[in-house]
Amino acid sequence: MNLLSSNDLSATQIEKIFGLADSLKDRSKKPLSKSSPILALLFEKSSTRTRISFESAMLQLGGHSLYIDAKTSQMSRGESLADTARVLSSYVDIISARMYKDSDLRELAGYSSVPVINALTDLEHPCQALSDVYTIRKVFGKVKGLKIAFVGDIAANTANSLMITATKMGAQISLVGPRGYHANFEYILQASKYETVVTSDDIQDGLSGCDVVYTDTFISMGQESEAEKRRKLFAKYQVNAEAMKFAKKGAKVMHCLPAHRGEEITSDVLDGKNSIAWEQAKNKMVVEKAIILYLLNAGR
Ligand code: CP
Ligand code: NVA
Repeated sequence: MNLLSSNDLSATQIEKIFGLADSLKDRSKKPLSKSSPILALLFEKSSTRTRISFESAMLQLGGHSLYIDAKTSQMSRGESLADTARVLSSYVDIISARMYKDSDLRELAGYSSVPVINALTDLEHPCQALSDVYTIRKVFGKVKGLKIAFVGDIAANTANSLMITATKMGAQISLVGPRGYHANFEYILQASKYETVVTSDDIQDGLSGCDVVYTDTFISMGQESEAEKRRKLFAKYQVNAEAMKFAKKGAKVMHCLPAHRGEEITSDVLDGKNSIAWEQAKNKMVVEKAIILYLLNAGR
């Protein structure tokens, strides 16, 4: 079994992963120490959280991890994804890959003989969404019935994955971004099958009644050439103290990080008492432990 998209998991499977994550908080438990499997982290893009949390997760489970920077592999000299996948999967037991193009991740997975995890592509960030929703559940004690606003780049990989995972677990989504800039229609359509998804270009309207206000960078990796245009396009959608007044009193603030302070979010809000961004980052590791274990066991 692979985890390429948030669509790959049912609500029951998400519950199982969350249950596993709860049980894996205790570091002394090393369920993989007997077989000592190897995780390959094949990354085309930069990473701090996902890379380090996956590496630590695998070590804590009792396995090993290998980091492969695509730029220093033969991929940079034109070796095909198919050949890379065939060879890599003959050395390791599971692969977590961060690719520019989602289609490249799918090609890699198609030729891999071991499970492949999406560690972020231009289209999705499913592991992030799982730790986000896990964090929401920890903080609120529930997910069902909550209203989550995603503000800014509503077509971002993080928005797509959050939309699917959160609605599957019973939360409503409010997508708040500029007029004429559209979220991914396929994802809205899919998420709407589980729960209500609304869109608005008005930040007051979009944040009204929200329990959680989530944002991400205005300029995702790979979009650097559009930086100026994007900064202007999304400027009105900064998550700041004024904007937070439109959400429910005490609404929690989330950010997948890295944050661009003064752009999509202000420091007072990110460091404020209602920010759960640090807990969100911390939870990535335990959720990734659960994902690794779940996928390795699914193959048995
Ligand atoms: N949130 C997240 O995926 O961060 P990194 O890019 O540092 O891995
Ligand atoms: N949307 C961001 C997420 C970074 C974790 C990006 O793709 O760069």
